[in-house]
Amino acid sequence: MRSPVFYRAFLILFLAALNTVLASCGGSASSSGAVSNGATDPGIALAQVRFMTPPMGWNSWNTFACNDTEAIIKSVADAIASNGMAAAGYQYVTVDDCWVGGRNATTGQLYSNATTFPDGIQALAAYVHSKGLKFGLYTSAGTNTCAGLAHGTRPASYPPGVGAGSLGHEAVDAQTFANWGVDYIKMDYCGGNLSAFPAMRAGIAATGRTMYLSINPYSANTTLTTNFAADGTLYVPAYADMSRISQDISAKFTSVTSIIDTSAADAAWAVPGYFNDMDMLEVGNGMTADQDTAHFAMWAMMSSGLNAGNDVRSQSAATQALLTNSAIIAVNQDPLALQAVLDTPDSSATLQVWTKPLSANGTRAVALLNRGSTAAPITVNFANLGLGGPVQATNLVNGASLGTVTQSLTQTVPATGVVLVKLAGSDPVAVNGPLAPQGWIWSTVQSGTVAVKAANGVSPPVGATAAGAVVVHGSSYIDGITVNAPAQLVYRLNGRCTTFQSDIGLDAAAQGAGTVDYQVWADNVELYDSGLVTSATPVKTVRVSVAGRNSLRLVITDGQNGVTNDVADWADPWLYCS
Ligand code: GLA
Repeated sequence: MRSPVFYRAFLILFLAALNTVLASCGGSASSSGAVSNGATDPGIALAQVRFMTPPMGWNSWNTFACNDTEAIIKSVADAIASNGMAAAGYQYVTVDDCWVGGRNATTGQLYSNATTFPDGIQALAAYVHSKGLKFGLYTSAGTNTCAGLAHGTRPASYPPGVGAGSLGHEAVDAQTFANWGVDYIKMDYCGGNLSAFPAMRAGIAATGRTMYLSINPYSANTTLTTNFAADGTLYVPAYADMSRISQDISAKFTSVTSIIDTSAADAAWAVPGYFNDMDMLEVGNGMTADQDTAHFAMWAMMSSGLNAGNDVRSQSAATQALLTNSAIIAVNQDPLALQAVLDTPDSSATLQVWTKPLSANGTRAVALLNRGSTAAPITVNFANLGLGGPVQATNLVNGASLGTVTQSLTQTVPATGVVLVKLAGSDPVAVNGPLAPQGWIWSTVQSGTVAVKAANGVSPPVGATAAGAVVVHGSSYIDGITVNAPAQLVYRLNGRCTTFQSDIGLDAAAQGAGTVDYQVWADNVELYDSGLVTSATPVKTVRVSVAGRNSLRLVITDGQNGVTNDVADWADPWLYCS
């Protein structure tokens, strides 16, 4: 084990000079290649393609439940193609539950209900494709679909969905869906078996067709705990492109706020290419205009999928305008793809400030959310965001400039409503040297805080607490960052750095237990994946080229056995920058 003092001196005196050469030779990085729409990602089990921004589309369930028909789906596709929604980015038209007529006893293949989907799913998918849209279809991880179990709205003699789930039929169903031209699979749970999710992912891979996998381990009759991964049952990001994190939404503001809280609790689990699904939208389904705006803005802020759930064929002008608001959609589709986090110092239980860094340097989307029953002023203090001024502020809902402000912005926010703004100021940008004391633009930790040990009495960055020691395998490091996994940090590099280097390992506080996985991402490309790290894993040194990158995302996630004792370090993390 090297001595930390020698290590630092060595770094300062020699490695800086050798940096470019070593980085160009690849160092010790395990590069997994480009990770973006259309590119393979061998770093994540079984996923052929990672979709780096949340999906947008429409789903039949919230409006039609089990009364969906082929005629309805076609007319919805007509509307989306022509009313501005397709142009705004909505692309998946998804048939939810109750389309199944049964399963062919000989071939094992599903077929559609002959009364409601008489022309079959393949023809329906072709129709949707002919409108320039993509086609989504529902299935379940059980023997029955959720309607067959929970919603019971059809005759008892043959409730839809009985015997129609994909459990045990994942491969044949994936192939059937591929043959039909399905682009998006919504896979529900409802008393199913968790094994069906990875089996479906494998089934999709075997077809060779790109199909988005949106899963719901929380549907009615669920047996899972509220935090899907905390018990280590299934590490969802390895298998799904997006996962529901809550029970079913309803068109009530209390439902909206409860899902916001659940998603916030799961923010640290969302790694690049995987999003927390806050359920289909209830915009246009009966809440007030202010509540609809808050709902839509928060789904955008938290990088949820945006699947409209209203009858888009007959929506009001206000609903249409909200669903196609390009500035709000741009927040959801921002390429940095971070989930908004609560600005705790500026927030109370009722009046909250949520922040989401955007890809452009110095920019943040900020939602001032009033959960209470009276209008009230909400203030965001820029120092709490690590944002420097002067700051240009713009209202993203109506496009109004709020002028140039310094230090803070206060807006009066309607009851059960939101003011969504964009702030453009200046960010902490990484500089050459130890990373631990430097300011990040975003952090998320499932429990506890980001604890930073900085050398020579340097203060920890905004949002961090001071760590007493960073000790890995008996070695005490001069600088370091200690977190409870899952936890993530994002820094701005602005193309000025060449190499990131850090030792990694479980902290002494893990007490010999715990299992984690380290990932280093830059601009949503995975540069390094440690594989499983336990207390038996010797200290590893990560060294990756970040040349030309604008952002650095440090991820420590669960080792897929639950998060107990997952206390982990970035030890003497260092950036080489010009
Ligand atoms: C569950 C899901 C819903 C919908 C229904 C269909 O309740 O959470 O989104 O798919 O099943 O039965």
